[in-house]
Amino acid sequence: MTEAETTRITPYRNGPYLIRGSFVMTDQDGNEIESKRPVVALCRCGKSQIRPFCDGTHKTIGFRSESEATPGPEAELSDSE
Ligand code: FES
Repeated sequence: MTEAETTRITPYRNGPYLIRGSFVMTDQDGNEIESKRPVVALCRCGKSQIRPFCDGTHKTIGFRSESEATPGPEAELSDSE
């Protein structure tokens, strides 16, 4: 996979996750969540009215989060999540 083909996910400071590149998004049951844009913003604040997509609400609620990763072990998902 070349750099140009690599899908890039960026947590924006005080904002959404931006996904650039080719991807398929599904819900937990495997149903595809359609997106027609080449760059997609996913809600990180939990308050969007169009989840999983960002609708800009993070700005009005004053959502705060850094862009860089917090050091520590990576989270593992269990089967119940
Ligand atoms: S991150 Fe934008 S509405 Fe939640």
